[in-house]
Amino acid sequence: MASGICISKQEIIENLQAKGKKQGELHKKASCIRDSSVSKNVYFRGIIEFSNICANDCFYCGIRKSNNKVKRYLMSKEEILECVEFCDKAKYGSIVLQSGELQTKKFTDFVTGIVKTIKKKFPKIGITLCVGEQSKKVYQKFFDAGARRYLLRIETSNKEHYSKLHPNEMSFESRKKCLENLKKIGFQTGTGVMIGSPFQTTENLADDLLFFKKIGADMMGMGPYVLHEQTPFSSQCFNPSNNLNLSLNMVAMLRLMMPYINIASTTALQALTPNGRELGLQAGANVIMPIVTPKKYREDYQLYKNKPCINESSEDCMKCIIARIKSVGLTPAFGKSGTSLHFLRRKKC
Ligand code: 5AD
Repeated sequence: MASGICISKQEIIENLQAKGKKQGELHKKASCIRDSSVSKNVYFRGIIEFSNICANDCFYCGIRKSNNKVKRYLMSKEEILECVEFCDKAKYGSIVLQSGELQTKKFTDFVTGIVKTIKKKFPKIGITLCVGEQSKKVYQKFFDAGARRYLLRIETSNKEHYSKLHPNEMSFESRKKCLENLKKIGFQTGTGVMIGSPFQTTENLADDLLFFKKIGADMMGMGPYVLHEQTPFSSQCFNPSNNLNLSLNMVAMLRLMMPYINIASTTALQALTPNGRELGLQAGANVIMPIVTPKKYREDYQLYKNKPCINESSEDCMKCIIARIKSVGLTPAFGKSGTSLHFLRRKKC
């Protein structure tokens, strides 16, 4: 199982559609593979959503620049550091700094500065950046400042589909190039797609899995598409239970195809069903991202509707998430930064 199962696209499609008993068996198999490849440890990534200011106008996203109903914010350096301190005390082992996308020098310098400070104050904590498309130079600056992981979802690996989800100013090629640059620089590189997004077919999803394998992603953050009313997609059909099942099957299939990568059980799963994140873990995920954003900002960082935890504090989220991990017989990996084994293995080669 070193490099995952070999499977045809047709078989992937069939597995993605699994329901009932077949689905249960698929998830069990993926769970077993997770246990034997990356262990029963579940790693924490405390997510700090430090700004919702965005220059992009993605058709699906609640914080797209044209949504003038959103109150925009940028957290101060001090506020961000308080969140990191919380993660350190909670023994989360790693953090994710996520925001809307801006390419201004002021913004990227701010990110570089904060990474440097975090590295100095909390040298052991893993830092993942999720601040969108940037130039190779900027990515290098982030790396030199001490960030070692970067998450940039491709959203879909199909060029035509990409152009249906994004305005003309955004391009599939540029997103792909960014992923290549991140890998070249030496980041543990994460990507992902939205599952069940408008105009997507099951074949697209099978291609997405093959794409992840082809580019050799180290980490994965993929979750169900969830409708947001203040977007151009508000009247597109949206099937929550279908998106949930497909998402869980995507996690399971990915675990079978890439046993050593880190796969997040994403918050969006919980937007569709209260035990969504437990189901993600039971389908083979090994990473969980407790929200650490201060309560006063949570309502303003809604990429999709029904986002869970917006009325909760970071302490509430911590207790809740630990209980969820334990409830499915897995081990909260306190204090461990959880470097992707897929990354370590490819570095050895
Ligand atoms: N539903 C689900 N996920 C969404 N994202 C943005 N909008 C939505 C939505 N409506 C995801 C995108 C982005 C990540 C930060 O959030 O995949 O990359």
